[in-house]
Amino acid sequence: VTAYTVCCLPGDGIGPEIMAASRAVLDAVAERFGFTVDCEGHLIGGAAIDACGCALPDATLEAARAADSVLLASVGGPRWDTTDPAAPRPEQGLLAIRKALGLYCNLRPVHVFDALVDASSLKPELVRGVDMLIVRELTGGLYFGARERIDDAPGAGANGEPGVWCSDALEYGEGEIERVVRYAFEAAAGRPRATVCSVDKANVLGTSKLWRDVAHRVAAEYPQVAFSDMLVDNCAMQLVARPAQFDVVVTENTFGDILSDEASMVAGSLGMLASASLGDGTPLFEPSHGSAPDIAGKDVANPLAQILSVALMLRHGLGQPAAADAVEAAVERALDDGWRTADIADDATPADRVLGCAAMGERVAAYLA
Ligand code: NAD
Ligand code: IPM
Ligand code: MN
Repeated sequence: VTAYTVCCLPGDGIGPEIMAASRAVLDAVAERFGFTVDCEGHLIGGAAIDACGCALPDATLEAARAADSVLLASVGGPRWDTTDPAAPRPEQGLLAIRKALGLYCNLRPVHVFDALVDASSLKPELVRGVDMLIVRELTGGLYFGARERIDDAPGAGANGEPGVWCSDALEYGEGEIERVVRYAFEAAAGRPRATVCSVDKANVLGTSKLWRDVAHRVAAEYPQVAFSDMLVDNCAMQLVARPAQFDVVVTENTFGDILSDEASMVAGSLGMLASASLGDGTPLFEPSHGSAPDIAGKDVANPLAQILSVALMLRHGLGQPAAADAVEAAVERALDDGWRTADIADDATPADRVLGCAAMGERVAAYLA
């Protein structure tokens, strides 16, 4: 039998809960499709800081490199929240593993399940049928540019006195832009609407002017793909005004971070948004949301973003597309049958249809059996 190794990184907050729920689904789908998955647990984020003082231990990175895929839940929480620039933060672990594995291309599919059109904060007629793919650049831009801080910079304080001065550099090389834009065009070429919208701030930023030039150059190689660009502020508005206009959206790191959280509400909840991080090394799969400290430890988190990330792992990481389709179909059936977690339930949802995190995982796993 085919045997895979998956490096599992539960992390912090709701991370361990959604990871457990998604493992139940992974076990069920492996059983049904006749392959085995060896899930090795490793530390990242706050849990790793507590255990060994660093957010990405060497042992975790080595295990990630050796695995067929990495499945990550979420990192961070108030326990490690500090604005001291010298203190370790859980989020550094996530950025470090993305960078170390060369995962420059982050796919965030925004799929509106028919059963959830009323869960969105937008009108049902606006969100029905939305099926968009946000392609976010993941290893460049503001997140990885030079950082500087001068604690007694002349004139940086109030009234021209010395004070703290900080800078985060937004940097891109054209090769970094081209590879992720190319991925977006390749993805669009295989989709029914074959349309790419490149999002930038080319009316102001130098990096965005370069982004736009590169996007146009790549677009010329794909005459079969319809192409446009859009300024990011307009895009933020268009996403809530007319989300159905978008097919593939490609954008830089920070814009993609913000726009994808915004777009998640089109699908009903941040708890529905999966992601795949692809590039040079072991591919990594994780929900788009964070560790949700406000609901951690209560078994109420929505595990579907994590479960849909397992589907992306089966498709893009393990080469099991039929198993990926089966997981997505099982999620759809659970929703069609009225099963909800609290974030996607409303006043009309019968109380006995609102499941906890573990129970939703078991429910989806049961549809796969
Ligand atoms: P968050 O995404 O954790 O939560 C935002 C809101 O969405 C909260 O109200 C939360 O309860 C809700 N939510 C998120 N996921 C949910 C789910 N699966 N089911 C139901 N509700 C869900 O963002 P935040 O509160 O701004 O950040 C919390 C911590 O998570 C921070 O430390 C942040 O740095 C970290 N973070 C980590 C990741 C990651 O690991 N990939 C991503 C984003 C934020
Ligand atoms: C995400 C998160 C991360 C990001 C943080 C936690 C570093 O918000 O995956 O969207 O900004 O990339
Ligand atoms: Mn984010």
